[in-house]
Amino acid sequence: MIKVGIIGGSGYTGGELIRILLQHPGAEIAFVYSTTRAGKALSEVHPDLLGQTSLEFSGEVDPSVDVVFLCLGHGNSKAFLQENPFSPTTKIIDLSNDFRLAADAGFMGRQFVYGLPELHRTEIQGANAVANPGCFATAIELGLLPLAQENLLQEEVHIHAITGSTGAGAGLSPTTHFSWRENNLSWYKPFTHQHLGEISQSLSSLGNAHGKLRLLPLRGNFTRGILATAYTPFSGSLDQARELYADFYHGAAFTQISEVEIHLKQVVNTNQCHLHLHRHEDLLLVTSAVDNLLKGASGQAVHNMNLMFGLPETQGLMLKAGVF
Ligand SMILES: NC(=O)c1ccc[n+]([C@@H]2O[C@H](COP(=O)([O-])OP(=O)(O)OC[C@H]3O[C@@H](n4cnc5c(N)ncnc54)[C@H](OP(=O)(O)O)[C@@H]3O)[C@@H](O)[C@H]2O)c1
Repeated sequence: MIKVGIIGGSGYTGGELIRILLQHPGAEIAFVYSTTRAGKALSEVHPDLLGQTSLEFSGEVDPSVDVVFLCLGHGNSKAFLQENPFSPTTKIIDLSNDFRLAADAGFMGRQFVYGLPELHRTEIQGANAVANPGCFATAIELGLLPLAQENLLQEEVHIHAITGSTGAGAGLSPTTHFSWRENNLSWYKPFTHQHLGEISQSLSSLGNAHGKLRLLPLRGNFTRGILATAYTPFSGSLDQARELYADFYHGAAFTQISEVEIHLKQVVNTNQCHLHLHRHEDLLLVTSAVDNLLKGASGQAVHNMNLMFGLPETQGLMLKAGVF
């Protein structure tokens, strides 16, 4: 059994990791560290876990676990690792954006690999540190990578992506307050969202330059999921586009191409990314849907753990969608 530590266990992504790992046949939670809940039962903070575990939050870390997941806000992972150095044999999977860009990937003798399995499976398998992608970045990169590989992103790409409120974490803010969010819709950070850097890095990693990425993020009045659309000029047929995507994602366990239009509920509570292609005049519209907390965060992190430890990659991740 792989011994796992979780840092930031009272937050949303930490809670999702606990839920997945309690059911994972190859892993065992050694400790769940919390700065604010040490000594409390996990089920006090995550009441759905009542009867599933008697574990309590810990105020201490075991530096010799096999793998540690960092589920902290941006900027806190670096500080945490400096204050709590883990054994060189402990693998690290970080869910923040502290190590995602190549310029930040080297830290304390480790080299973080960008953890999008559809792009870097082999590197992840050999890594001792992984920077898990952002949630918007996951949805958008999976939507655009096949076009990037064929050098078909030379023009501007227009992207709209709408996220549920859990994307902003467990802390309360004016725009996650029920009274504001319910029955409401708004955009934020137009054309400047922090995930653009990692998206551009991944698209460029396939060897071709790409046109400007114009990303408009939206806040939806639902709790989880991301629906992202991107469109760009495309001179081929719809069948050619479908073939391109089928080839690129051949063998991918968690990325599927749907011939029928997709919606959020078919992926919420799963580790799947569903993609749909639509052609109109000279444009190709790509739609992608993910659960921001699973394929966009904790599910992908466990997928990376499976790859790093040579486990079957879907182990613990065959989750059931809510659908209705
Ligand atoms: N939410 C998403 O959909 C999503 C998707 C992809 C990536 N991410 C990224 O994943 C990370 C965690 O996101 P989240 O949504 O789980 O956030 P969250 O709900 O706000 O949880 C973060 C947790 O970090 C702990 N913490 C806060 N400050 C700390 C510090 N200085 N040192 C140590 N621990 C500290 C707190 O837990 P304790 O009180 O228990 O210590 C807090 O609950 C973020 O970097 C986020 O950007 C989130």
